[in-house]
Amino acid sequence: MSYSRRQFISFLGKASLGAAIVPPFLLGCGNSSKPITNGNLSEEHLERLKKLILEAVPASDKDDLVLANGLDYHTIIKWGDSISDNDTFGFNNDFTCFIPLDENNPKDGLLWVNHEYVNPIYVSDFNQYDFEEPRKHHTKAHVDKEMYNVGGSIVRIKEENGVWKVVKNDPHNRRITAKTEIKFNWDLPVKGSSTAIGTLANCSGGITPWNTFLTCEENYDDCYGENVYDENNVATRVPSKYNWWEDHYDYPPEHYGWVVEVNPKDGTAQKHIALGRFAHECCTIYRLKDERVVAYTGDDSNNEHLYKFVSSKPNSLKEGTLYVADTVNGKWLAIDWENQPVLQARFKDQTEVLIRARAAAKILGATELNRPEDIEIDPITGNIFVSLTNNKTKGDFHGSILKIEEFNGDFDALTFKASTYKAGGEENGFSCPDNLAFDQSGNLWFTSDMSGYAMNRADKPYFPFKNNSLFVIPRYGNDAGKVVRVASAPRDAELTGPWFSPDGKTLFLSVQHPGEQTKDKNNPTSLWPFDGDNIPKPAVVAITGDLIQKMNLLNKLEA
Ligand code: FEO
Ligand code: CA
Ligand code: CA
Ligand code: CA
Repeated sequence: MSYSRRQFISFLGKASLGAAIVPPFLLGCGNSSKPITNGNLSEEHLERLKKLILEAVPASDKDDLVLANGLDYHTIIKWGDSISDNDTFGFNNDFTCFIPLDENNPKDGLLWVNHEYVNPIYVSDFNQYDFEEPRKHHTKAHVDKEMYNVGGSIVRIKEENGVWKVVKNDPHNRRITAKTEIKFNWDLPVKGSSTAIGTLANCSGGITPWNTFLTCEENYDDCYGENVYDENNVATRVPSKYNWWEDHYDYPPEHYGWVVEVNPKDGTAQKHIALGRFAHECCTIYRLKDERVVAYTGDDSNNEHLYKFVSSKPNSLKEGTLYVADTVNGKWLAIDWENQPVLQARFKDQTEVLIRARAAAKILGATELNRPEDIEIDPITGNIFVSLTNNKTKGDFHGSILKIEEFNGDFDALTFKASTYKAGGEENGFSCPDNLAFDQSGNLWFTSDMSGYAMNRADKPYFPFKNNSLFVIPRYGNDAGKVVRVASAPRDAELTGPWFSPDGKTLFLSVQHPGEQTKDKNNPTSLWPFDGDNIPKPAVVAITGDLIQKMNLLNKLEA
């Protein structure tokens, strides 16, 4: 049994102010922030939040991380920095997740960072533009460097005097790469094996209620291609972008496209087959009262789907049912071979169904969505928010944020209501929403992901928005419900992986792919983070300052 919306409303009704109250059931859920733990929000706190004036930063095409008044940043770690005597930090950092080593000390813990993909120009020194027949020059050494620079990093970080620093050579520091052997959490082999070589295309992710990291494999086909089936169920392998399998490592695409769980303490990992295989953006988990879990996850591809897994046993990401959303009729459709004759007619068993989850979803009549990206659960209402970044094939250039209200507020419900919460476009001042994060007061922060090649071009619809940005939608006061830009990214970059520290004083944020449009390494389009090496480097920053503290209700009333 789960916590119902009716129970939730009556809980709200009993509150002194009926304001920001976080029911205990949301504590420790997959939200990127820990919600308010003390129940009521005092009248004075509420008044402070209502009076908060946010000064937006204007859209900017400057090659810098530009922040709103009241915010500062410092770089914690950047591509190539050594984390130990043996390992260096990978490329194109995306999802971040911080877990304190001791829950009573929010200033010392383990930071997980995804490394989504590489730019060979910088990473392996292989520039396809240099050659007439580039494949002839693509060596195993190039691919080995590229494989090392994806996956994820675990680094111990500590805050002292307001500055976060990496604890170099801490025994927890390690890399997980495209070469790390990882087991499948499944009883049957997947494409002939019980393990995969490596994880890659790690875009966004999540946290489990038992405090492990989730990292999601998104565009795996860039590395290993994909087997695509015709109407006679005959597969053809489509080529990859980086030619890893074509040139050097012929690993099966079926070993990628999963949600991967990583133990922070020892780096052991497993791929969760029950959650289906597709271009997973993220995985957001909610734990029910009886400790069964509900995992929301989206397939970030044009005309693909939104899924949720509901476990049948406590804390299991293996035993249970995977559903896919029919957002038109508000139904969760079971992707269940045993009970769906239409799936039996096409696939030989549930393992094949999960490997080809996209095809199964389409057979069941799931709704095509406009690239579902990050997902968060509102800590105050329990509604589920899903970024739909865009879908140029359907004329949706600016995307939107979708709101899902589960029936009766039950996360394991089989029906729901879907509506648009906020549409992208000039009227609302943003385009292409991607990562989402709620802070401790329930303000919604989000980043944008306009493609590098299309930004700042007068002939493209993204021109007015200039560089990718970080936005916040305040929950209270004059700006409540408005979209306020609070940071603008360096040139060609995207801001990703927003994650609040447990004390709410720091927003960890990735600056991904600055200078991505560079064709000549000696002439880069960005030099951020200006470390003297004259090339751009993806990096994780800590955003701090008065504004974060005020929005997170941390300016104590005593002084
Ligand atoms: Fe890697 Fe869906 O962004
Ligand atoms: Ca993303
Ligand atoms: Ca998030
Ligand atoms: Ca994206």
